[in-house]
Amino acid sequence: MGYKKIMNILLLGSGGREHAFAYQLAKSSMCDKLFIAPGNAGTSSLGINVPLNVLDFVTLGKFCTDNNVGLIIVGPEEPLVRGLRNHFSADDKLKSIPFIGPDEAGAQMEGSKDWSKSFMKRHNIPTATYETFTTENIQAGIEYVKHHPLPIVLKADGLAAGKGVLICENNLQAVTELQAMIADKKFGDASTKVVVEEFLKGIELSVFVLTDGKNYKILPTAKDYKRIGEGDTGLNTGGMGAVSPVPFADAAFMQKVEERIIKPTIHGLVKDEIFYVGFIFIGLMNVDGEPYVIEYNCRMGDPETEVVLPRIENDFVELMLATAQGRLHEIDLQISDLAAATVMLVSKGYPESYPKGDVMTGFETINDSILFHAGTKQNDNGTIVTNGGRVIAITSLADSIKNAVKKSLSNAENIHYTNKYYRRDIGFEFID
Ligand code: AMP
Ligand code: GLY
Repeated sequence: MGYKKIMNILLLGSGGREHAFAYQLAKSSMCDKLFIAPGNAGTSSLGINVPLNVLDFVTLGKFCTDNNVGLIIVGPEEPLVRGLRNHFSADDKLKSIPFIGPDEAGAQMEGSKDWSKSFMKRHNIPTATYETFTTENIQAGIEYVKHHPLPIVLKADGLAAGKGVLICENNLQAVTELQAMIADKKFGDASTKVVVEEFLKGIELSVFVLTDGKNYKILPTAKDYKRIGEGDTGLNTGGMGAVSPVPFADAAFMQKVEERIIKPTIHGLVKDEIFYVGFIFIGLMNVDGEPYVIEYNCRMGDPETEVVLPRIENDFVELMLATAQGRLHEIDLQISDLAAATVMLVSKGYPESYPKGDVMTGFETINDSILFHAGTKQNDNGTIVTNGGRVIAITSLADSIKNAVKKSLSNAENIHYTNKYYRRDIGFEFID
């Protein structure tokens, strides 16, 4: 293809997800300088970490012109929801830079639950039935949840750092929580509008779609493990591990997902005149074999990225550039037949308070797994210390989920730090 040129790339974000992106981008012969803002101790071995704030749009723009950036990839949702793409498209010097991530209108898929629910309703995309309440109709909301079948799902409309969903087991609790969210701003301005929805009973999975605004490619499916404890118990976390592919997402199920959800989503965006370029992360519930949308996100998942990206065999810069330039139909997506598993090492105490600064050792003993750093930091003397709740993701590829998990668990023993904790049962329902 005539597009194989070498370029400087700016990747935004600092988690395990971004280390996995950096890993794929750095492998490409089309990648000259890779900048990661702000990055972490892992990304610094693949590119140049630059201490920029992902919400400081003016400085990001200046960095791109000063450093001849030829491709921008946005990892986290917040800059997208706040309109980073709009900032770039409104500037003559920046608007021609290929950009992966939707504009403010497209990012509402994640930035407003009420907006995404009405999008699904408008385009007949299967999802839980719902009503939306604000200060204006809170009395009607109270009556609604008093008589709603149990459990009741309450969702803060706006971004709430993954904490804005409550599942209430009785009606009075739901009334109290609805009032706390709307009237007392339990999640700040994010919860002055609340979506109340039907509880869907089933098994969750994540489907990732890459779109250039017209064409789309379905990326590998993944399942993440959100609870802190083994057997899916205890508090919700950002994700303790993930596997890909998801065995029950077979061809028949994925056909339903594509026809009922992916195509109407892509067509719906076009009909609504939203030019969406980037990743769409669709959180799905498989209810007795039928897919329903739980949520959309305008980015890749973390830790799902750490199992999805290593299975993509294409030149990743070529894939990203084709997406940004509306040429996704030219790409023949190549997915590895191998299964991937990620085990996340965290700090004891996470997702509540946890210590930072534990010295980490054992990196050189890792065998046949990939390490994606999340909450780590390199001290001035070169030692790597823990710097977050989720510390490091250990990803392995193998001929089965069972063997991939086994490799990651074996390497989890090889990394040492005082407050290490991880789940040993990632992928348990797919391993006999
Ligand atoms: P969200 O922030 O929308 O991903 O919601 C967080 C989690 O709450 C999801 O991953 C599900 O486990 C759960 N959840 C959200 N909506 C529903 C629903 N309608 N029925 C059952 N569980 C849900
Ligand atoms: N792993 C779920 C998320 O990234 O939102």
